[in-house]
Amino acid sequence: MTKFSDPVVLIRPALPRDTADVVEFTKSIWDGHDYVGHVFPEWLDDPAGQLFAAEYAGRCVGTGKITRLAPAQWWLEGFRVDPNFQGMKIGSMIDARCNAWWDEHGDGLLRLLTSSKRAKVHHLSEARGFVKVGDVFGYSASALTGSADAFTLLTPPEAGEAVAFLNRHAPGRLMNLGWQFVSPNVDSLHALAEAGLAWWWRGRRGFLSAWENDSEDESGLTVGYEACGEEDRAAMLKDFRRLAGSRGMNIAGWMNVVDAKAIEALEEAGYEQAGDDSGFLYERGHP
Ligand SMILES: CC(C)(COP(=O)(O)OP(=O)(O)OC[C@H]1O[C@@H](n2cnc3c(N)ncnc32)[C@H](O)[C@@H]1OP(=O)(O)O)[C@@H](O)C(=O)NCCC(=O)NCCS
Repeated sequence: MTKFSDPVVLIRPALPRDTADVVEFTKSIWDGHDYVGHVFPEWLDDPAGQLFAAEYAGRCVGTGKITRLAPAQWWLEGFRVDPNFQGMKIGSMIDARCNAWWDEHGDGLLRLLTSSKRAKVHHLSEARGFVKVGDVFGYSASALTGSADAFTLLTPPEAGEAVAFLNRHAPGRLMNLGWQFVSPNVDSLHALAEAGLAWWWRGRRGFLSAWENDSEDESGLTVGYEACGEEDRAAMLKDFRRLAGSRGMNIAGWMNVVDAKAIEALEEAGYEQAGDDSGFLYERGHP
């Protein structure tokens, strides 16, 4: 029987004092490659979303965050429980609180990406009415030397024109901004143009966006979205390998929802599947 003096788990908005606990327990998640400890201080300052903490016996032992990526497009991320306290339903409590917050404050769609192997997250998400949008795979190829003239940077005033182009060539396809997916819109394309990470290809025959990722032993430029005629897709992805090379990267990557046509184009352009683990991309609206 629970005694009055027993500690209970409390899910509450995160506080700056949680940072040290989060930094500490995330060191033992994903073999030390978890990023949440690094971004937590910045997440505390997000004015549009909400960061939650699970407190137990005076310590922060879990986190979850809802982020507004664009008007009516939200993202669930940072779902973590201290490995010493996993399997005790703390994750369920955090997930319930995050989803309840979004039901009350969010609009449009809420999405998340999780590994195909994370059965607990599939279980929780499906129970809350999330529907799987697709399987996300990463592909990579060596960057190539040679001219990258086929690409012209998108300029911010062209964002509206780009959205119309994308809706024509790849209706419904989601854009990976770097492990966060949105339906392309003027805001996100404007931001990508300002960051210099979106390009027209061969005039207006194609378009793609990418993000840069640097690790200790390799640097990559990864396609998060591409749109063009199906007959041009392999050629554009091959040219992208030169774009990556021209920016001093050694890897050209691709990461998005796969289908047979995407795989065919990627393989023709010399890319190979990176790892055998896929991601499940889920979304839901209001009940
Ligand atoms: C994923 C994570 C946050 C879950 O937290 P947790 O406290 O261990 O999870 P819980 O004990 O609350 O279990 C969550 C749910 O999964 C269910 N579950 C447990 N094992 C399961 C299994 N093998 N298959 C399906 N469901 C399972 C639980 O019953 C519970 O559901 P319920 O509330 O409907 O009964 C935590 O394990 C973690 O931090 N993992 C490492 C980081 C990570 O992978 N984060 C997710 C990124 S998307």
